[in-house]
Amino acid sequence: LSLQAFHTFSLPSQCSELFEITDIAQLQSVAFSTPFCILGEGSNTVFLNDYQGTVIKMATGGVAVTEREYDYLLAVAAGENWHQLVTNTLAQGIFGLENLALIPGTVGAAPVQNIGAYGVELAKYVEYVEYFDIATKQIKRLNKQQCQFGYRDSIFKHSLKNKAVITTVALALPKQWQPELSYGPLQQLEQVTPQTVFEQVIKTRNSKLPDPYVLANAGSFFKNPIITNQQLNELLKHFPPLPHYFYDDDHHKVAAGWLIEQAGLKGYRIAGIEVHQQQALVLVNHGGSEGSDLIKMIQHIQQQIWQRYQIRLQHEVRLMNNDAECHIALGDL
Ligand code: EPU
Repeated sequence: LSLQAFHTFSLPSQCSELFEITDIAQLQSVAFSTPFCILGEGSNTVFLNDYQGTVIKMATGGVAVTEREYDYLLAVAAGENWHQLVTNTLAQGIFGLENLALIPGTVGAAPVQNIGAYGVELAKYVEYVEYFDIATKQIKRLNKQQCQFGYRDSIFKHSLKNKAVITTVALALPKQWQPELSYGPLQQLEQVTPQTVFEQVIKTRNSKLPDPYVLANAGSFFKNPIITNQQLNELLKHFPPLPHYFYDDDHHKVAAGWLIEQAGLKGYRIAGIEVHQQQALVLVNHGGSEGSDLIKMIQHIQQQIWQRYQIRLQHEVRLMNNDAECHIALGDL
């Protein structure tokens, strides 16, 4: 069975077994003894080669809305499409998700990497996340704090990795709308409404980020690196325009897309894989490539960025290699 249509980076790959879960009761009968990989729409997972295990595609649906005194609580099934949720809540007069418009993928995948864009992260609105606990076959619930959200990070990438299948994500959206406009393109809005923010986010994303269903890609390929204030000050001496953002008292986050563009890598190509012309943090796949070409591309970018700035870039996209996730880092070959 080809996985090409099941992940948006669309490298040629096969798997022997794929279960589509439309009702969470079906999880009871999945044998989790062999290697498995849980997939939503595959917009942040890349299969480098044939996957030696079972792919479990979450395709459950349903949104339960509860009105409370100060907010709406939305309990959303994992298989729901994220952007559809954003669009539907807005249409119902429930606001807050507009900065997160057009992010590809499913609701169930959103907490894993704590999706974020234009000054808002999913964590801001999470009330709880429910998951199927593979060991006990029971549904368990974590509150926001227990999810251990960080920048593109959560407990689901650490202690609950390969132990949990997210089934429901509950979001609390306040009735009192407070726009988040810190991000450049949103500051230019003349009229600020949830709808205009939503439209501006869509316009901005469309100008830089290729539609994965038109040109294969997996969004930002690398994380924006978090560096010490000391290293930032050194870098700013050599590269004054380097975009940087406060992270905590000792660290700043720097724009990886800028680092890659300034290293002259926009348009750099290995086989059909290219550093995107409009956003250097995105890798696109024109086709005719294999996982080994992507690995070469990742290593080349990591080497260039290390040589120029002494920064280690980490890929944000999850890479599946044979039967398990792998991480490619400088020094590994
Ligand atoms: N930049 C360049 N050249 C480039 C790309 C970016 O100079 O080729 C500069 C931009 O001009 C800007 C800065 O770098 O000053 C940041 O760029 P941008 O606003 O495009 O955002 P980003 O930091 O590259 C992050 C997220 C995106 C999210 C945007 C908007 C990560 C890894 N990526 O990208 O999320 O949409 O901010 O908030 O944090 C994703 O995770 O897949 C994703 C698309």
